[in-house]
Amino acid sequence: MKKKSDKIGRNSPCPCGSGKKYKHCCMGLAKVMSIEEEYKKRYDITIKTPEQIEGIRECGKLLLSIMDGVEAMIRPGLVTEEINTYVHERTVQAGGIPAPLNYHGFPKSVCVSVNDVICHGIPGDWVLKDGDIVNVDITPILNGYYADANKTFFVGTPTRDGEKIVSVAARSLKMGMEAVRPGATLGDIGYAIQTYAEGQGCSVVREFVGHGVGIDFHEQPQVLHFGKKGQGITLVPGMVFTIEPMVNIGERYLHILEDDWTAVTNDGSLSAQFEQTLVVTRDGYESLTPFEL
Ligand code: MF3
Ligand code: CO
Ligand code: CO
Repeated sequence: MKKKSDKIGRNSPCPCGSGKKYKHCCMGLAKVMSIEEEYKKRYDITIKTPEQIEGIRECGKLLLSIMDGVEAMIRPGLVTEEINTYVHERTVQAGGIPAPLNYHGFPKSVCVSVNDVICHGIPGDWVLKDGDIVNVDITPILNGYYADANKTFFVGTPTRDGEKIVSVAARSLKMGMEAVRPGATLGDIGYAIQTYAEGQGCSVVREFVGHGVGIDFHEQPQVLHFGKKGQGITLVPGMVFTIEPMVNIGERYLHILEDDWTAVTNDGSLSAQFEQTLVVTRDGYESLTPFEL
């Protein structure tokens, strides 16, 4: 006969020995958990529904159309503030919101990062000149959904170093994306990027990482652009995250300027970056912000 005292009540101490009440600990694990529940509970990762993925895809289309407009503007003499004005107006016109504006106090609607600026450059009175490289990182919110992507452009005629670092950064993102499929791990992505970029004699920034995205700007998991094969969380269909390697032609070390945002290379060397928002599918991935790399 089953005695009452044998039953684990909601308020009994959890049998796992944590000291917490059962209901605040393992009770939820007693029933079979779905992958969605498990990833939420273990990693705080929100696996997206098909409807949510469609919303992020639509936001991605707006992002890319704005990115194409920016690309067409880039020329020597352009003031980076003009990129901000364009991105802001296009986003609002489409019924969207520029996510960077006021994000943890960021003062503008887009990040514009020139030459040795790694990321989080604040558009302003900088005048682009022939031979510069300029990264433009756009994140609209459309119908509540976020998509996040960036590209590095040449201003006028590229220098040798400019050409090299932009090519290595683009291919680094491509290598990372090609590692994405169910059953692979986050470490596989970082490993693919690091091996390629360092193999080209460049360095990979460690302080900034890719991230879950879609319902919020920065969600779990963190997506490192360096790492070891087989390490970290296993990828499952419906995960949506960015890959956004920042690659330097010199050393990887950086500092943040007085404005508390602008990240620049310590050695003054060029830094380039590309970013896309991806969803893990049943047989690989789909980019929700697709462009040629
Ligand atoms: N778009 C950047 C990223 O890829 C984040 C910019 S945060 C901001 O994650 F506040 F600087 F906009
Ligand atoms: Co991002
Ligand atoms: Co971004």
